[in-house]
Amino acid sequence: MEETLYEQFGEENLRKLVQHFYDLVFEHPHLSPLFKTDKELIKEKQFLFLTQFFGGSDVYSQRYGHPRLKARHLPHPIGKAEVEAWLQCMALAFSKIDADEKLKDLMFQKLVPPAFFMANKE
Ligand code: HEM
Repeated sequence: MEETLYEQFGEENLRKLVQHFYDLVFEHPHLSPLFKTDKELIKEKQFLFLTQFFGGSDVYSQRYGHPRLKARHLPHPIGKAEVEAWLQCMALAFSKIDADEKLKDLMFQKLVPPAFFMANKE
């Protein structure tokens, strides 16, 4: 059987990616004001979500239920600028990980449609 993206990338790299990503997000002028709750919990949720998203275990859903991400993001005003900032932070976070460039690109490309889907304001 073919390895999932999660298996190819590895848990350690995914942990590092999430850490780099939120280091950037929590410093970002457009994004940081949106994050008002427990930052460590958000990192853990994102790590578990991305694990599941890239074909790893479904602990995120077992713990938190169906992701319903668009609904979960409705309380946070997300426009084009926020989507682009989110993707920029993600691209930069990937660039800091020492892994196969094609694999990183494929994983990043898979996040682009969900990021635009999360927009909920003009
Ligand atoms: C496009 C721009 C996006 C913005 C501005 C954004 C922002 C946020 C904010 C403000 C929260 C809540 C933080 C809190 O509770 O304090 C959140 C939660 C979360 N976001 Fe995003 N997000 C975006 C896109 C995405 C995408 C594309 C994904 C997944 C591919 C994602 C996955 C998550 C997850 C898993 C949570 C935790 C949900 C939960 O279980 O409570 N987000 N995001």
